[in-house]
Amino acid sequence: MRPADGLVVGVVGATGMVGRELLALLERRRFPVGDLRPFSSGRARSSVSFRGRAIPAPGVSLAALRSCDLVFLVSSDEVALELAPALARAGVWTIDDSAAFRLKKNIPLVVPEVNGGALNEDSRLIAGPNCTMTGLAVAGALLHKLIGVREVRLASYQAVSGAGKAALAELFSQYSALSGLRPESDGRAPVLGSGKSSVLPRAIAYNAIPQVGRFGPDGYSSEEAKVAAELRKIWSAPALHISATAVRVPSIRGHALAAWLTLSRPISLSRARALLSRTPGLVLSREGDYPTPRSAGGKEPVYAGRLRRGATPEELALWITSDNLLKGAALNSVQVAEELRRRGWLKPRAR
Ligand SMILES: NC(=O)c1ccc[n+]([C@@H]2O[C@H](COP(=O)([O-])OP(=O)(O)OC[C@H]3O[C@@H](n4cnc5c(N)ncnc54)[C@H](OP(=O)(O)O)[C@@H]3O)[C@@H](O)[C@H]2O)c1
Repeated sequence: MRPADGLVVGVVGATGMVGRELLALLERRRFPVGDLRPFSSGRARSSVSFRGRAIPAPGVSLAALRSCDLVFLVSSDEVALELAPALARAGVWTIDDSAAFRLKKNIPLVVPEVNGGALNEDSRLIAGPNCTMTGLAVAGALLHKLIGVREVRLASYQAVSGAGKAALAELFSQYSALSGLRPESDGRAPVLGSGKSSVLPRAIAYNAIPQVGRFGPDGYSSEEAKVAAELRKIWSAPALHISATAVRVPSIRGHALAAWLTLSRPISLSRARALLSRTPGLVLSREGDYPTPRSAGGKEPVYAGRLRRGATPEELALWITSDNLLKGAALNSVQVAEELRRRGWLKPRAR
C-alpha cells in the first residue's frame, strides 16, 4: 500500500510484548497502514518488523505523533499520561492500552463486542481494558444483558507476559537457573523458599503469587480493584458486587479465570449454555471439555468451559480463558480502530 492510500499510524511501545502483537495484527488483518511510525523508549537502538521490512523504532517524537491519523499507546501509564491528552487535542485518534484513563468519566473504555456503543466521534482518546477483566466482560455480556448479573466472584490465573517483557525474561531465567531439579528432588521443592525476584514480587518459577500490582488499604491489589471498577464501567453496572483474587502463575501467555456469576434470577443450565453459545466473541467448549491458557494462547476469541451450577440456584460457575496479549490488549485495540473506520470516523486527515 502506498502511503497516500492508507492511514498514518503511530505505535508507542512497538518493541514491547503488546506492541509486537499489535504490529502483527495490523499486518494479518490488512489494516490500511500507509505509513507506520513505531516508537520505543529510545534506550537502545531498536527496530520492528512490518510487512517484511525492518523499521527503526526510536524514542518518542511528539511532533511525528501529532501528524498521525491514529496512535496506539502500548507503553505505560506514565507515557500515556504525558502523550494522550495532547494527541487527542490535536485531533489524533488515540487508543491507549494502559490503565491511565480507563476510569475517567468522559473517556470511553471499550470492548467493541460488549459496549461498542460507548464510542463517539468527539472522544478521540479511547481506553482499552485490563487484560484479566476482558475475558469476563466478553463471556458474561449476554447473560448480563438478558438476565442481569448481580454479583461476580473470581480467582485469576494470570500469565507472566501480562506483566511485560521484563517479567517474562525473569520467568525464563528463573527456570533455567533451576534446570538441575530432578523428579526425585520434587519433594524438596519447599527448600526453594520465596526466591529472589526483581520484576515480580516473588520468584514466579514453580510458584503462584497472590499479588498483581500494589495492595490498597482494603487489602485488595490494584489488579483486583481494576477488574471490579472496569467491569462495572463496561457493563454499565455501577451496583455490581465483585470480589476478586488475582494470582500470577508461571504460564507464558493466556489468562484464566474461575468465575462465579450470581444472576438476578435462576435459569436452567441449558438456557445458560444456549446464551453463552451465542455470546459474541466467546467460544464455549462442549460439555466435558475445557480450554486452557495454552489452548487459547495465540488465538483471538475468549474461551469458556466447565459451566455448572454454583452454590445457590442463581449462581453459575464458569472457567474462562483468553490471550492477554491479543483480546486482552492488542487485538481489542485493533478492533476498536476497525470499528472507528467502519463508522467513517477514522480516515486520512488533510495534510
Ligand atoms: N502485557 C499484557 O498482557 C497487557 C495487557 C493489557 C494491557 N497492557 C498494557 O499495555 C502496555 C504495554 O505492556 P507490555 O506488556 O507490552 O509492556 P513491555 O513488554 O514492558 O513493553 C513496554 C514498551 O514500552 C516502551 N517504553 C518504555 N518506556 C518508554 C518511554 N519512556 N517512552 C516510550 N516508550 C517506552 C518499551 O520500549 P523499549 O523496548 O525500548 O523498552 C516497550 O516498547 C502497558 O501499559 C500495559 O499495562 C498489557
